[in-house]
Amino acid sequence: MSMSTIFGLGSRTRKGVFATKQNLSMASWSLPPLSSLKTYAALTCFVSLFTAHSGSASAADGKALFSTTCIACHGSKGEGNTVIGAPNIAGMDAPYLTRQLSNFSAGIRGTAASDNYGAQMRAAVAVLKSDADRVAVASYVASLPKIKATSTFKANLTNGSTQFNAVCSSCHGSRAQGNTQMGAPALPGTDPVYLERQITAFRSGTRGAHKDDKTGGLMRVGANMLPDALSVHDVVGYINTLNTVKP
Ligand code: HEC
Ligand code: HEC
Repeated sequence: MSMSTIFGLGSRTRKGVFATKQNLSMASWSLPPLSSLKTYAALTCFVSLFTAHSGSASAADGKALFSTTCIACHGSKGEGNTVIGAPNIAGMDAPYLTRQLSNFSAGIRGTAASDNYGAQMRAAVAVLKSDADRVAVASYVASLPKIKATSTFKANLTNGSTQFNAVCSSCHGSRAQGNTQMGAPALPGTDPVYLERQITAFRSGTRGAHKDDKTGGLMRVGANMLPDALSVHDVVGYINTLNTVKP
């Protein structure tokens, strides 16, 4: 049986199932246009083919996984959703993304009782069954063009830049561009409210305190060098001005 035959059969079956479900349980809803049904059929078909051969992940698999699993919260371009606290992840470094997905899966990140945001993400990554899945989806997200956060954020930028240059630049770089060797991610473009929440989480040990979280442990040292919560706020305000992405 050729690939195109498999695809053809798959789409017809999926379309049928989807249409029947719509008719039964969502009778009052109008049916989505044919084009979105086709996309749905192609995606689900793609994912089921992929699941059958999960040893061989590729960039295309990453795109399919992203479309079915991640865009609901992170948006179709990976731009994030500030209302639900899902960060902008487009164009982040692939090894950093892979490590975070593994950390959520393994319970190294997102397990603290107070971490409601992390818990959401832990539930979502349960769909990724293997390292190959995580690498594929991370590579796809890394390939997306970076998007600048649009938030305005009031802070004392003088204090922010002083603290940043004294504490953060040694690991994250003078423009917060990141340092791959150290595992420190690029920070500009990420929503400031998310950044502030993360630094606060590192300070309290909600993130980064797990014994297997080596890079998180490094960051905890940095976060705890800031004198107080006001300085956390100011440093984030300063990072928010270091835009390296064209709006
Ligand atoms: C139910 C909503 C939801 C879904 C679905 C979801 N995420 Fe998330 N994601 C979040 C939230 C909320 C956070 C912030 C967690 C925190 O505050 O620690 C997050 C954080 C992340 C991070 C950490 C980013 C960083 O800068 O450290 C990555 C990477 C990520 N998500 C990737 C994904 C990928 C890839 C998928 C699909 C496989 C996905 N997410 C699906 C809500 C979601
Ligand atoms: C000793 C090196 C080091 C120092 C100093 C340091 N960081 Fe980090 N930072 C890291 C590493 C490594 C990570 C990745 C942690 C992980 O893998 O979860 C990180 C992660 C972060 C994150 C999480 C980003 C995300 O997308 O979730 C933020 C925010 C951050 N650092 C901000 C700062 C700020 C602000 C400072 C200065 C107050 C600072 N860091 C100082 C090494 C450092």
